[in-house]
Amino acid sequence: MLPLDAVFMTIDRAAAGASSDVSVRAAADREARACRLLLPEMFDAHQAPELLVAVLHDAEAPDKSRLVGAAGIAPSYGPRRGSAFVHVTPSFRRRGVGRALIEAAVATCRGRSIVLHALRPVPEESQAAQFLAACGFEPVDRIVHFEVDGLPFYADMLAVRQRLESHRRIPPNARILRLSDADPDAVADLVCRSIETSRAYVRSRFRPDCANPYDMRNSVVLTVDGEVRGALIYNWSGGAPVIEVRAVDPSLRGSWANALMLEEATRNAKEGGALRFRFFASDKLKETLSLARRANAEQIRIELQYARPVK
Ligand SMILES: CC(C)(COP(=O)(O)OP(=O)(O)OC[C@H]1O[C@@H](n2cnc3c(N)ncnc32)[C@H](O)[C@@H]1OP(=O)(O)O)[C@@H](O)C(=O)NCCC(=O)NCCS
Repeated sequence: MLPLDAVFMTIDRAAAGASSDVSVRAAADREARACRLLLPEMFDAHQAPELLVAVLHDAEAPDKSRLVGAAGIAPSYGPRRGSAFVHVTPSFRRRGVGRALIEAAVATCRGRSIVLHALRPVPEESQAAQFLAACGFEPVDRIVHFEVDGLPFYADMLAVRQRLESHRRIPPNARILRLSDADPDAVADLVCRSIETSRAYVRSRFRPDCANPYDMRNSVVLTVDGEVRGALIYNWSGGAPVIEVRAVDPSLRGSWANALMLEEATRNAKEGGALRFRFFASDKLKETLSLARRANAEQIRIELQYARPVK
């Protein structure tokens, strides 16, 4: 942890004003509320992020220091991996404040994390992507977002399920539950074993008061003999369901499990009024890419996940 009064660097004195100085240090408790306003993404996860602030000091009026940027660091993306988000107030951008916050975040993670991820993937070619690249981050994953027409998509899922049923491929001890009826800890554990995320973050999305809650009623969980073995979880964005998690126990991958969950979850969404479906996947996930090809899905955007080694 950084000492509260650590001043990492002085940033572009001339630009900020002759008698001004910007320093980066760990946030004091009284600054947490301002950080929350600057970094709402960090607080979505309902995990307490470590906070750094960039503060503008006025040598002539020391009591008038102003917060001009903040960074949050959370322990996501698995063991020994941190994730960070930086926000600089618009009138203080392009003066090195963001870079100083990133360097301070990396320094904070030294000795306990080997990699610092950007909190979320960012659109290719975006200003955030350019900033991260300039600060020594490299793209480690490419996320492709798709959108597809609801009715033909569902009809295809139904046909696959009916074929599996007619060949008696779905075992009688398999059950589909609504996410709201499943054991939340067992679901969070399965999701964390399948994708790089933290248990706390997944659990936070179960809460209806979070910024982007999972659809607890219509997302589905697969159990076999009562054990959670799969989950297909979506949330709604812009009036369309966005399939966010498809997690299947390794022993059931490439079998009936995924098809069964897809049919049930898309039926629920269709009955909930969905006309279009969205889903996304890393371009390393060949199975989702072939689902997209098969469903004639439209590629709507590409995002890059950036990370930087902590040395
Ligand atoms: C991205 C953000 C944090 C950058 O803060 P900043 O203080 O302006 O960044 P810096 O001045 O330290 O910039 C460092 C380098 O990043 C790159 N960069 C920063 N902003 C950029 C922009 N808008 N377009 C292109 N490159 C940019 C430049 O290479 C810059 O170096 P230079 O000014 O010498 O050319 C700020 O614009 C912001 O708060 N945006 C909204 C939140 C966000 O997108 N966060 C990023 C995800 S972690």
